[in-house]
Amino acid sequence: MESLKNQIAVVTGASSGIGRAIALSLALQGAELYLAARRKELLEAVAKEAQALGARAHACPVDLTKDEDIHVLGEKLQREFGRLHILLLCGGAIAHGTHEKASLADLDLMYRSNVRGHYALVQTMLPLLRKAPGQIVFINSSAGLRSPVGAGQFSATQHAFRSIADSLRDEINADGIRVLCIYPGRTATPRMERLFDKEGRAYKPELLLQPEDIAEMVTHSLRLPRTAEVTDISIRPMQKSY
Ligand SMILES: NC(=O)c1ccc[n+]([C@@H]2O[C@H](COP(=O)([O-])OP(=O)(O)OC[C@H]3O[C@@H](n4cnc5c(N)ncnc54)[C@H](OP(=O)(O)O)[C@@H]3O)[C@@H](O)[C@H]2O)c1
Repeated sequence: MESLKNQIAVVTGASSGIGRAIALSLALQGAELYLAARRKELLEAVAKEAQALGARAHACPVDLTKDEDIHVLGEKLQREFGRLHILLLCGGAIAHGTHEKASLADLDLMYRSNVRGHYALVQTMLPLLRKAPGQIVFINSSAGLRSPVGAGQFSATQHAFRSIADSLRDEINADGIRVLCIYPGRTATPRMERLFDKEGRAYKPELLLQPEDIAEMVTHSLRLPRTAEVTDISIRPMQKSY
């Protein structure tokens, strides 16, 4: 297995849930972390947790809907390292509703954060990833493979996210850059707790996938020898009936 020690990693959605768990798993492997999301205090708390695990970690407030924030992060990485080993795309928005009732404002927000923001981040970081050469991880969703009723808008953004990953892989594999897509089912995160609340159902996180399950799988895939590339992983809670 390859070592991730001292590898530079940018993690979006690092302030919470799956992104936070992956950041901490990378910290355990000795990677140096650039933690991106909007809530600075939460990012600083995650940075402290990562530092306690022996890693270097930096809180980088970034709103994916703001081009300027993405540009500033790109400039910082260019200035400080000139290369990037891991770009992990995990943050974003979600809203529910039937197509008849869903709001266009929600669609715009999900497009801007989930698709356009991450697209802009990939474009910004590609020259740095080429230098490493690095790896890109798209944390997608089972909704990127199916189109469940009541999540049509979100599902559309996740299908776009999948399409970008697939064409990007074919574009940059020749430069030695790997592209991994993860499609998780329901995972015990603050987002999921809010969703159960909205659905009026009792929240039993112990019956769901754990963010650490996904983090473990991602870290393992990133460490595989460069003779291999894992392209797509679907992961579901073991308990299907909940
Ligand atoms: N939980 C699940 O069951 C599940 C299942 C499948 C896929 N996923 C995927 O996993 C990813 C993380 O979800 P989660 O469950 O861990 O949710 P979460 O705990 O709510 O975390 C969402 C993350 O996205 C960040 N974010 C949201 N809007 C942003 C913006 N405009 N700019 C920058 N960061 C933004 C949030 O940080 P700030 O609020 O601090 O900006 C937060 O760190 C999502 O992409 C989701 O589609 C989750």
